Amino acid sequence: MSDADAPDAEGDASTEIERLDREYVFGTWSYQKEVSPTEVTGAEGVRFTDARGNEYLDLSGQLMCSNLGHSADAVADAIAEQAQEGAYFAPGFTTEARARLGEKLAAVTPGDLSKTFFSTSGTEAIEAAIKMARLYTGKHKIVSRYRSYHGATYGSISVTGDPRRLPAEPGIPGAIKAPDPYDYGSTLDPMESVEYIDEMLMLEGDTVAAVLVEPIVGSNGILVPPDDYLPRLKEIAHDHDTLLICDEVMSGFGRTGEWFGCDVFDVTPDIMTMAKGLSGAYAPLGATIVSDDVAEHFEDNMLVHGHTYAGHPVTVAAGLAAVETYERENLVEHAGEVGDYLGTRLDELAEDHPSVGDVRGVGLFRGIELTKRADERVPFGHREDKLSTGTTVVDEVTQDAYERGVYVASMINTLIIAPPLTITESDVDEAVAVLDEALAVSDEAMEE
Ligand SMILES: Cc1ncc(COP(=O)(O)O)c(C=O)c1O
Repeated sequence: MSDADAPDAEGDASTEIERLDREYVFGTWSYQKEVSPTEVTGAEGVRFTDARGNEYLDLSGQLMCSNLGHSADAVADAIAEQAQEGAYFAPGFTTEARARLGEKLAAVTPGDLSKTFFSTSGTEAIEAAIKMARLYTGKHKIVSRYRSYHGATYGSISVTGDPRRLPAEPGIPGAIKAPDPYDYGSTLDPMESVEYIDEMLMLEGDTVAAVLVEPIVGSNGILVPPDDYLPRLKEIAHDHDTLLICDEVMSGFGRTGEWFGCDVFDVTPDIMTMAKGLSGAYAPLGATIVSDDVAEHFEDNMLVHGHTYAGHPVTVAAGLAAVETYERENLVEHAGEVGDYLGTRLDELAEDHPSVGDVRGVGLFRGIELTKRADERVPFGHREDKLSTGTTVVDEVTQDAYERGVYVASMINTLIIAPPLTITESDVDEAVAVLDEALAVSDEAMEE
């Protein structure tokens, strides 16, 4: 500990950087009095280190985005080279990396998805998708689902279903919510929920531009629909002249053991959004790729959209190097293999811990949902907790794991497991051993 990091008169053991940050920088999605950032100083592979020298195994790839781990040198080099060659050119110019990344995305995405609009976040990828769907169909409503997150700006938060939408309401007009394929916690069977969307589209008349879903729901609980769900949803959407948008911001780029979540179900959407794993989080990059039909529409109709940083040279250089890294290192296949092993190990945890209500997921995209009364599936964390102060038993479990050296994210009532795809079986064993100890916290908090 340096002098600057010594506890101050009030006994605050924060580092100087933590104190400065706390004073001058807003924390996200938080009551500011509860914000307490940890200073990190380095990262390598699947681990990162804080300013006190503690090392953590990163079981959530930071915000479910560091798919390449923290040592993807080829991506770091591509960023440095592009910054030196020409850090920025206006979107009217192009660079080799931008054109080649566009070509690459057309190749790795399914079906006839072919032309990409580049932005700088998942939120912006969704904004572009909403606007393109509206411009293409001439209709304005977007049907999305309650247990979903699609972004923070007014359009993307309006189509988000999770509680973070509520303080932003009223949002954009025409954002309608449907039920989710949530077998463990919903009263509707997943396939009933998809037929409900058919009825919604019928009742809305010819006004819905798109149905927008995460093929496998991410932060709202890792919800994997039955195999028939996504194909049926596409059929329903097209029966009503409505586009299907798949939000692959979290489920894309190998996370599921396939390139994209919709590949798990063999479905090609009309529009797909990406970010996070697209650059392995090495640079802020989002993308919206559309089918030939949608692309063709904008030949003679204006694409009324753009940003200063659309296709920013440094971000697309990172994206190209990242996609090449997934390919070169066979990371998608590796994620499938280690993902199966992770799934087996989590099933074992569920057997040993009565507070584990459900484990679910595919590949390296897994959730552990907790319960305080297993027979009635009573959750520890509720949707309203997302907007309130204080901690829940779920937070106490993740805190316990953190103190034992494993960083794992959680949302409402579910631990979200989405490590870098480079994780090995022995890293998984290490993480599961820590979760085994941390879950004693929720076991002890159960009710009779
Ligand atoms: C499925 C999904 N869509 C969109 C977003 C928004 O992405 P960003 O935070 O990069 O704006 C997220 C972020 O977590 C997400 O998980």
